[in-house]
Amino acid sequence: MHGPLTVLAALLPFTSAQLNTYAKKAGLKYFGAATDSPGQRERAGLEASYNQYDAILRDGNEFGSTTPTNGQKWLFTEPEQGVFNFTEGDIVTSIAQEHGLIQRCHALVWHSQLAPWVDNATADWTPETLSAVIVEHVANVMEHYRGKCYAWDVVNEALDEDGSYRDSVFYRVLGEDFIKLAFRTAAKVEPGVKLYYNDYNIEKPSPKSEGVVRIVRMLQEDGIKIDGVGLQGHFVASRPPTLDEQIATINAYGALGVEVAYTELDVRQTTPVNETSLEWQANAYRDAVGACVQAEACIGVTIWDFYDPFSWVPYTFPGEGAALLWFEDFSKHPAYDAVIEAMRNATVSPCKRRQQRRRAQMAARSAELQ
Ligand code: G3I
Repeated sequence: MHGPLTVLAALLPFTSAQLNTYAKKAGLKYFGAATDSPGQRERAGLEASYNQYDAILRDGNEFGSTTPTNGQKWLFTEPEQGVFNFTEGDIVTSIAQEHGLIQRCHALVWHSQLAPWVDNATADWTPETLSAVIVEHVANVMEHYRGKCYAWDVVNEALDEDGSYRDSVFYRVLGEDFIKLAFRTAAKVEPGVKLYYNDYNIEKPSPKSEGVVRIVRMLQEDGIKIDGVGLQGHFVASRPPTLDEQIATINAYGALGVEVAYTELDVRQTTPVNETSLEWQANAYRDAVGACVQAEACIGVTIWDFYDPFSWVPYTFPGEGAALLWFEDFSKHPAYDAVIEAMRNATVSPCKRRQQRRRAQMAARSAELQ
């Protein structure tokens, strides 16, 4: 029986709803937000933190997961060869631990924010020496965070837009073997953690999304464990991928037996914003989250921070911004309600999702056993 309070709750406007609560009702594992350490923000010329910011990040009804936007990257964790430093990453891990948030860990092998000693023309790497460096890095960083990550982005952004491999020190020296080595090492260090390939512009069918399929198959055919594909989801409000394109792509990855997550979702627009651009943005968020709740393989959504002033967008794309769900004054974007609406309209039952996850786990295990 629905009592008067239940009926009232159902009638309340979406603005009183909260993201993680609805994500779970829709059968997702979490709705999360990435965050940086206050020290990193300060060094980048931003305010270190606000009480209101901290309260929202730690509100389990709003967010069930977090990711350190910078602190676990190579530049910070192994700034000099063999010298490991986990200070920045640990700040976010502590927040996750204290507040019971799932942590998506990011990123082990990436050409960007790489320590200069690795990406150094005079280093003269051979396949043997660079392989040893990758193994040492992956093993030490994963060991430090053992038991604290739901998933690791093992390899990040290895592909170019045409689906070929991106030119990087890793690819130049090792070819695609660097991907195999990174995943093989990660699986050895912590067999229970989910291992993801993570990239951007892979949310709709394209040569690049075919490249992702190729990577997943390559690993599986070699008996190497891969559990997930991370869709970064850095979108532009005026030209996002459609709902159907995103569902088709998630299904294509899911058909390989891996899970899928939106790992860095944000939707940028020209600033100052206007009603039209906010509406486009709301539609783009609705479609991304809508695709996740409609496609069985998708397990969760992470936005790349939640508070506009802390977004990476204005620094990389001057004249654009307001990409997240909270404005500078801590009021919410219209996109917030659009996200809730997408999750309220979820069509995949939690039971079907569990079945899909089990299938993915079995596929990953049988790949390992081959
Ligand atoms: O720590 C330095 C500080 O010492 C320096 O004085 C200051 C001056 O600008 O910069 C500080 O570092 C900045 C760092 O963020 C920490 O705030 C870097 O300049 C800045 O380039 C760096 O940007 C990060 C970017 O990755 C680098 O590519 C963003 O915060 C981070 O959000 C962004 O995240 C990436 C994902 O990892 C992968 N996918 C794309 C996504 C967006 O670029």
